Amino acid sequence: MKNIFIAPSILSADFSKIGEEILRMEKAGADLIHCDVMDGLFVPNITFGPKMVADIRKITALPLDVHLMIEKPERYVEHFIKAGADYLTIHYEATKELVPTLKRIRECKVKSGAVISPDTEVNVLKGVLQYCDMVLLMSVYPGFGGQKFIEKSLSRLKELRELADKENPSILIEIDGGVTEENAKQIISAGAAVLVAGNTVFSSPDPKATIEKLKSAVSGK
Ligand code: DX5
Ligand code: ZN
Repeated sequence: MKNIFIAPSILSADFSKIGEEILRMEKAGADLIHCDVMDGLFVPNITFGPKMVADIRKITALPLDVHLMIEKPERYVEHFIKAGADYLTIHYEATKELVPTLKRIRECKVKSGAVISPDTEVNVLKGVLQYCDMVLLMSVYPGFGGQKFIEKSLSRLKELRELADKENPSILIEIDGGVTEENAKQIISAGAAVLVAGNTVFSSPDPKATIEKLKSAVSGK
C-alpha cells in the first residue's frame, strides 16, 4: 500500500499561539508542517516570512514544507533554507527562473518542488520534474484557506501522475486546497501522496481522528 503523508497548513492555525497549534498537529500525527508564505503580490493575501519559519523550526522536528506564493521566489530561497525549510516549493507562474532556482534549492540539500495553479497546464512541467523532489498541484486558487476543492484537479492529478511516471517516478505529488475526509480517497487514487489540509484538520474537534481518516482513505476504509 502506498504511503500517504498529511501536511497540516498553518494558514488555518491561530497565529497568536502558533507554537501550541503546531504541537497540537504533531500530537495528532501530522507528517509535515505546511507553511504558506504569501507576499500580497503573487496572491491577494500576506502571511509571514523567514523569521516565522525559523521560530517554528525551533519547536518541532517535523519536516517543514514551505510553499512560497511570492513573486520572483529566487530572491528569497536562501532565506527560507537558512530558516530551516526541508521542502521548498516555488510557483511556475511566479518566476522566469524555475529550473535554475530548483537546482539551487537542491544544491543546498533541501528538497525542491515546482507548483502549478489551477489554470496552468500540467504540460508546462515537461522537462522540469527531473529537478524536483516534490511537485505541488493547487486544487484551489492560491491565497486563502477554507476554499472548495476544484473538481477538475482530479483529472489534472492523473495527467501529472502520467508525466511523473515518465520523467521522475519517485517524485512526491502533493495536492493543496479543499482536501476533506470525503474527497481524500479520490485524490489519493488520482495519484497524490502528500495531502495538505488546513481547514479540515484545524477545525476538527479531533484532529488525530481526522488525520487517521485522511490516511486510511487509501484503503477505502
Ligand atoms: C492556499 C494555501 C493552502 C491552504 C489550504 O493558498 O496554499 O495551503 O492553506 O487550506 P485548506 O485545506 O483549508 O483549503
Ligand atoms: Zn499551501
